[in-house]
Amino acid sequence: MYSKGILISVVFLLFNCFDVSGFKNNCKLREVFSWKQIGYDFDGVQYTNSTAAADSSEPFFNQYNNVPIGLEVHGDRVFVTVPRRRQGIPSTLNSVRLCPSSAPLLEPYPDSGSVSELVSVYRPRVDACGRLWVVDTGLIEIPGARRQVQPPAIIVYDLTTNKQIFRYQLKDTDLVNERTPGGLTSITVDVHPSNCGCAFAYITDLATGGIVVFSLEHLDSWRFDHPSFQYDENALNFTAAGQIINWKDGVFSVALSDYDALGKRKAYFHPLVSTKEFSIDTQLLKTKGASIDGKIKLVGDRGALSQSGSHGYHEATRTLLFANVAQDAILCWNVDTELTPNNVAIVAQDHQKLVYISDLKLVGDHVWVLSNQIPKFVFSQLNTNENNYFILKGRIQDLIRGTVCDGTKKY
Ligand SMILES: *[C@@H]1O[C@H](CO)[C@@H](O)[C@H](O)[C@H]1NC(C)=O
Ligand SMILES: *[C@@H]1O[C@H](CO)[C@@H](O)[C@H](O)[C@H]1NC(C)=O
Repeated sequence: MYSKGILISVVFLLFNCFDVSGFKNNCKLREVFSWKQIGYDFDGVQYTNSTAAADSSEPFFNQYNNVPIGLEVHGDRVFVTVPRRRQGIPSTLNSVRLCPSSAPLLEPYPDSGSVSELVSVYRPRVDACGRLWVVDTGLIEIPGARRQVQPPAIIVYDLTTNKQIFRYQLKDTDLVNERTPGGLTSITVDVHPSNCGCAFAYITDLATGGIVVFSLEHLDSWRFDHPSFQYDENALNFTAAGQIINWKDGVFSVALSDYDALGKRKAYFHPLVSTKEFSIDTQLLKTKGASIDGKIKLVGDRGALSQSGSHGYHEATRTLLFANVAQDAILCWNVDTELTPNNVAIVAQDHQKLVYISDLKLVGDHVWVLSNQIPKFVFSQLNTNENNYFILKGRIQDLIRGTVCDGTKKY
């Protein structure tokens, strides 16, 4: 067992650190999985090739259309979501085990019998109480054939029993118009493990610029709108995967700070199309009907080409890590420093394996990322003979060592 572990480590080193083009700090990120194309395993029945439609209806599996977008990790299980943005997606919420396979087949979660209960899921979240939270947008987003199958809802699973705990349908007042459901692509759960019944969830709406708050205790939800949730006109047209990105995506990700002396925590957030970071006291978000005008703080500007999707806060190093889609990179910023371009560092960059980091999650001292080159899928064509989708992980202390984010470094 021991020598096998060493052998595997050596193989990983060879594969991941030997980089002729010399991309920065690549050795500190380890490749966990890579896929040319996604396949599925439904209770031992494997789907690794597209299936033809029996009649004029939608095929069960159209392999090329299966683009992984969301990631979450719990124990030895990795969750991978495949939103229904095209035809032929057998299962939108899936998991794989951290086993020797480097390109595992996705297994429907919680089981193959539940695949029709969820329409389309983006970025899932494991909370501090061993529960998995997802937002089902209820929307099939096939271009030219968008269909709201059911209203958007929050669904929560118990990760011990793999049973659904509850399903909460969002209220009409949480939604602005028919574009809103497609924007509900990330959820952050604010809960202390000593009080699991008192959880709040913050759902970002990147399409119509809002944050929807859910209270588990009151089984209620409400919405906040604010100009800081909107995309920034001046940050449009960055390049990713060789394509100019003109998506007008607003607020994309919420990252929670640790608790201060008064037991309060901050929510950091940013639109995808922006180089700025904002924050708000979570106490305000938790208060239905609160006025947030004048209460949102502009934390600072990360600098040119810092447009980022998901981000997360690492308490031990007091650092925020960002999925920086405009530079195929992971960025860091230590929250004890002023947020200016000089205090933001690239901790990893790779123009093959980090092309469009679609999700980023912090688990203990590790950062995990899923990259999917989605601009190529949308505007061009993926090469199905090469690896297109990657999941990588790295230890945060190693990644930030020697950068401006390393608080232990003396200047
Ligand atoms: C699946 O596709 C591969 C190559 O694309 C082909 O070699 C194989 O025969 C196919 N398998 C089935 C069961 O159709
Ligand atoms: C983005 O591109 C559009 C269309 O070419 C152009 O009108 C706009 O000025 C550009 N914005 C920026 C910030 O580059």
